[in-house]
Amino acid sequence: MQQGEKLYEGKAKILYATNDPTLVIQYFKDDATAFNAQKRGTIVDKGVCNNLISCALFQYLESRGVPTHFVRKLDDRSMLVKRLGIIPLEVTMRNITAGGMSRLLGIDEGMVLQRPVFEWHYKSDPLGDPLINDDHILALGAATPQELAALRSQSERINQLLKEYFSARGIDLVDFKLEFGRLATGAGQPPGPGQGTILLGDEISPDTCRFWEQGTRRKLDKDRFRRDLGDVEAAYQEMVKRVVGPAGSSTAATASGKPTAV
Ligand code: TMP
Ligand code: ASP
Repeated sequence: MQQGEKLYEGKAKILYATNDPTLVIQYFKDDATAFNAQKRGTIVDKGVCNNLISCALFQYLESRGVPTHFVRKLDDRSMLVKRLGIIPLEVTMRNITAGGMSRLLGIDEGMVLQRPVFEWHYKSDPLGDPLINDDHILALGAATPQELAALRSQSERINQLLKEYFSARGIDLVDFKLEFGRLATGAGQPPGPGQGTILLGDEISPDTCRFWEQGTRRKLDKDRFRRDLGDVEAAYQEMVKRVVGPAGSSTAATASGKPTAV
């Protein structure tokens, strides 16, 4: 697979064209941002960790019948993926209160929800990805009712599958963010609303999920960077061990061997 021109550079990843117009290379950087890029930093080898974790999770979801953009791992920091017309929506699924939901409703973090909470956010950096509802999406024609139903049922299934996967590895899946796209058939215009098969895109990693160690509630995700909790790299390395290792491999010690702030 030949790497072509840079198509897009985001805060954590770069997309490159390939000699096949239906495939792109997704490259993971070590750059970390928070609060809509007001806070910037580097997490050493984050790109390697997120690529490994995302490859393993996409393969797991595919094996359970969830269609994703994943084709194969290329090297430490890149994966080959199908080219999508990305839908400008971010889906957030929540199992335990934290972050945005705790702020929105003025409730403590750490309450186990009686059922998962599904949220749509409009993908817009200038607006800070605001929370929206089905009516906003349909009234603006960003997606069709059938697509919204498919996105919701896929997200609920992914939540169920990921919760089981992480639980077997000693991790509570607190919440996570997903992005979906419509499969492109060639180099031309990406498919619009109602056109093309919908696939799960982007990444699934400690950047896009909250992972708490079962029992201790130690944070093993990007909140360590967002909230200056320290041991950021160790948390990413620990999640690689948990995800890539066999189920039941929950190591209580951090990679650095030191106790960490929860
Ligand atoms: P939130 O509680 O800040 O809304 O975040 C919910 C989940 O979404 C959390 O697991 C982290 C992830 N997330 C992203 O992937 N990108 C973002 O820009 C933000 C704010 C959150
Ligand atoms: N992606 C967010 C940013 O805009 C950060 C976050 O994950 O909280 O920088």
